[in-house]
Amino acid sequence: MAETLGISVTQSNKPLPEGVKLPIYMDNHATTPLDPRVLEAMMPYFTGIFGNAASRNHSFGWEAEQGVEKAREQIAKLIGATAKEIIFTSGATESTNLAIKGVAEMYKERGNHIITQMTEHKATLDTCKKLEKQGYRVTYLPVQADGLIDIEDLKRAMDDKTILVSIMYANNEIGVIQPIQEIGKLCHEKGILFHTDAVQAVGKIPVNVITDNIDILSLSGHKIYGPKGVGALYVRRRNPRVQISEQINGGGHERGMRSGTLNVPGIVGLGKACEICGEEMAAEAAREIELRDYLKNKLETALDYTQVNGNLDHHLPGNLNMSFIYVEGESLLMGINDIAVSSGSACTSATLEPSYVLKALGLGDDVAHSSIRFGLGRFNTKAEVDYVSDKIISVVQHLRELSPLYEMVKEGIDLSKIEWAAH
Ligand SMILES: Cc1ncc(COP(=O)(O)O)c(C=O)c1O
Repeated sequence: MAETLGISVTQSNKPLPEGVKLPIYMDNHATTPLDPRVLEAMMPYFTGIFGNAASRNHSFGWEAEQGVEKAREQIAKLIGATAKEIIFTSGATESTNLAIKGVAEMYKERGNHIITQMTEHKATLDTCKKLEKQGYRVTYLPVQADGLIDIEDLKRAMDDKTILVSIMYANNEIGVIQPIQEIGKLCHEKGILFHTDAVQAVGKIPVNVITDNIDILSLSGHKIYGPKGVGALYVRRRNPRVQISEQINGGGHERGMRSGTLNVPGIVGLGKACEICGEEMAAEAAREIELRDYLKNKLETALDYTQVNGNLDHHLPGNLNMSFIYVEGESLLMGINDIAVSSGSACTSATLEPSYVLKALGLGDDVAHSSIRFGLGRFNTKAEVDYVSDKIISVVQHLRELSPLYEMVKEGIDLSKIEWAAH
């Protein structure tokens, strides 16, 4: 990947294993590289087929529209929807804003209560916070220690003013898959609309809006080896017919729900990305589970005081979130700077606050800080997993040699009983 990424990394003197190039990209929940087959499908739409898909008077427009409509079919097929139920957006952040704000506005006469959960992506949480300022009531359900919501909590939170439940399909940090079918069924029984942020699930595991009882679904191109800056929103047309208020006004594109000239090459790429996922998902999921388990077993065999975060029985194939207790997270990250993974610290703030997702599971700040998210993807190989695990093992072992806390624990001292303050 190094050459493609244009990044140079200083290597140690040790020869690299066959087929491994540095830096290694293992952060596929953040984004994925574009699949070359997707790029190939997109290319003609940048130059020759450059028309505006809304131009009805000439072949330039018709050809562009054909590309868009094919993509709509490809996306719909992957999630069990019909083409007319797919609305194109600039990505899942916009899709989720449109879904939640659009329902809140459209159904405000019916009620003002929305239910979501604490480990959602910020696209959902910040949208809900904004609605709270406008007078809506939002319940943020807690999660259990394994990352799953408790269905009984959801039942208890529903009342006669609840208009929407928004629960993500799979979590981007800990890979936990929520009981979507059950949540959707409950919502339908109560006449409440159900939106899911399925960004991390679509294309990775089977998602079907009919059998999963989903009314509105957000998805994104760049998490499934498609382009960045393009996404879609599924909006159910039958049983029930969902209506959402548009959030961007203009020429009335996308059946009035999202105005703006369509990003034709991006949309064609998203469609192709969905087609490839549909064809290869089963085999690819099995391959990633094997790699993930191999990585996990290697780390667990070589290192003590590790902990996997998130329920592994309800889990995305390529995700492994692991804490290396008694290791200072930032030192660990510095030690593995030729590997692209994510840490349990939200580096968006100067204070390096620990991830709110890990905290919602009940992890202490120190354990959350020592956590690494491995995101395996389509282009990762076993040789890369070997390099990554060997590197993590040697860095963790080295840091623990320097750690007084680790030494004390090994000597059998109970850290929770120590009085640290000087008398
Ligand atoms: C679970 C989840 N939801 C939403 C988003 C936002 O998607 P986009 O980057 O397409 O706006 C992401 C990506 O970071 C995500 O992982």
